[in-house]
Order: sequence, then structure tokens, then C-alpha cells
Amino acid sequence: MKMKRTLTLIKPDDWHLHLRDGDLLGGVLADSARQFGRAIVMPNLKPPVTTVQAAAAYRERILAALPAGSAFVPLMTLYLTESTTVEEIARARASGFVHAVKLYPAGATTHSDAGVRDLRSCDAVLAALAECGMPLLVHAEVTDPAVDIFDRERVFLQQVLLPALERHPALRVVVEHITTADAVRFVSQGEDRVAATLTAHHLLYNRNALFQGGFRPHYYCLPVLKRETHRQALVAAATRGSPRFFLGTDSAPHARQLKEHACGCAGIYTACNALELYAEAFAAADALQHLETFASLAGPSFYGLPPNSTRISLVEDTVAVPEQLERGGVALVPLRAGETVGWRLLD
Ligand code: DOR
Ligand code: ZN
Repeated sequence: MKMKRTLTLIKPDDWHLHLRDGDLLGGVLADSARQFGRAIVMPNLKPPVTTVQAAAAYRERILAALPAGSAFVPLMTLYLTESTTVEEIARARASGFVHAVKLYPAGATTHSDAGVRDLRSCDAVLAALAECGMPLLVHAEVTDPAVDIFDRERVFLQQVLLPALERHPALRVVVEHITTADAVRFVSQGEDRVAATLTAHHLLYNRNALFQGGFRPHYYCLPVLKRETHRQALVAAATRGSPRFFLGTDSAPHARQLKEHACGCAGIYTACNALELYAEAFAAADALQHLETFASLAGPSFYGLPPNSTRISLVEDTVAVPEQLERGGVALVPLRAGETVGWRLLD
């Protein structure tokens, strides 16, 4: 019988997470806190978290919802609008708990309607971010309905992000949840000030998963899954020990009935077993030796934070994933529901 491998890592962080609010926040937070030391918390609430004051209040609600004894640290973000002021960026910097500003192109995804229509109208704010070294986190998709949904990331990088990086030579950027070989090239060939997060689902699945045996809404997220050649490029980028590609789950819970709907919500829930899924992707690429850089070292280094001081262990095992979870009274269908995952996190 093959020996079961075990893996011990510096405790990882999640550099892109949706925690939502209210009962659902209370329900999903424990899943992330079990696996991760810290997380960059997305601001796309309703209404969005556009001020340091709103971020402080949200942070308090997160801390209040943590399981007793948890040392999990929420790293807050602000939602960029065309009305965000340079003064707000100064307050964010001074707060010590706001670590980044998130750009949602208006209409690109869930709760993005308050987002940005023309990034040039934010140039003063981008200059302030560049000045203080705070990263801009980018949902990199154009929203023009004339652009094919599978091309929206590539077109955004060329038409919107590249010019913005040229206008702001010191701006630091994380291209979030990249999905294409084009984005891998964009980040690899860019300067050190450009990094990217990768989700477990984009490392493990291509767009066929959306249609296997019928339409499968629990594989629908934005940016949408792409073809296999892109998935392979993402795996290659994540698994080579680069300091500029790091872990961001984009775990995005939506109630089961809103996913299984005529107009289903975008978002995949992976917070309950994210690390196990990433370990599976790295094991499949025979690159487990690079998982610690990706999950625990590259992100803190880009954000100017120390790595976590504790460790976690994973063991190779066959673990069943429930058909459905209940979180804060809401039914969620996690990625791999009813199937198995090849690793187990040891408590
Ligand atoms: O699939 C997604 N879900 N992509 C996003 O960009 C937002 C997220 C959400 O908030 O549900
Ligand atoms: Zn997201």
C-alpha cells in the first residue's frame, strides 16, 4: 500500500475571501478561521464597504462572530467607487486595519453596481494608493456585453489595467482570481509590483465542469471557468514557487436556491475545504514542495506582513464532502458536494 503523505506548512492565509454579513457571516467564518490565519475580506456587501468607518464596523462584526479562542485576523478592504476620495485613502492607510482597495468594474459581478465605470475618473485615488504603497485589488473583466465572456479578462488587462499601470508607475496591483494564460503572462512579464491570486476551483476545473451531464450551477463563478489550456497555465504559475502568485479562494457563498435558479448567482463555496483542494491541485502537479510559498509566504511578503507563526498539517486521505452544508441557517452546496477530496486538515 502506498504511504500516505503528510504535509506541515506555516499557517496559510486567504488573500481573497467573501464573508458576507449577518447570519451567513456567523456561519461561514468558522470554516475560514479553521484553515487560515488571516484573510483579505471583500467589501461587496449591500451597501458596499466604501469608507474606513464602514470597514471598522464590519471588522467588529467579524471579530464578534469568531469562534471562541480563534486568532483569525480579518484584513479589511474598501470598495472603490468614482466618489472615493484621496482623504479616504489617507484614513485607510492610518487605520492599520484596511490593507487594500478593491476595484469592481460596474456590472462585472455580484454587488458591483456601485463600482467603477471609467477607471480614469479614479486617477487621483490611484495616485494616492501608489503614494502610500497600498495595493489595488482588481476584478479584471470588462463589462461590455459585446465582448465574449471568455475574453473579458484578457481584454481588461490590455485595455484598462495596462494603461492604468503606465499612468501610475508605482501603483501596486493584485489581479484577483486569474483564469487565463493571458493573465499569467501579464503578471509574469510585469514588474514586481503586480501579483495575482488563484482560486482552488480555477486550478482544478475547466469550463467543461459547467456542462458535465447537464448544467451545473455550483460550478458557476466569475470570472467563469476557462478551457483546459488556461487551467494548465494557472497550475504552472501557482506551482513554481513564484512570490507573485498566491492563494485567494474567492470562496463566495450563495444560498442553494439562489444558485439553482433561472438566473443563478455567481460564486463557489470552498471555505470548508479550500486547503485540501489546493493540496490536491499541487499534488497532481507533483509540486507539493511549493505549496507553502503559494499558501503561506508569497501573500504576506506582497502585503508587507510577517508570515503566520503557527503551523498546520495535512494528511493524504479520502474525505467525503457533504451534499449540502448549513451555515447560519442558509443551505450551501460546497465545491465537490457528494464527492471526495484527497487531503484532510488535521486539527
Ligand atoms: O463568482 C464570484 N462571486 N465572483 C465575484 O467576483 C464575486 C463573487 C460574489 O461576491 O459572490
Ligand atoms: Zn471575489
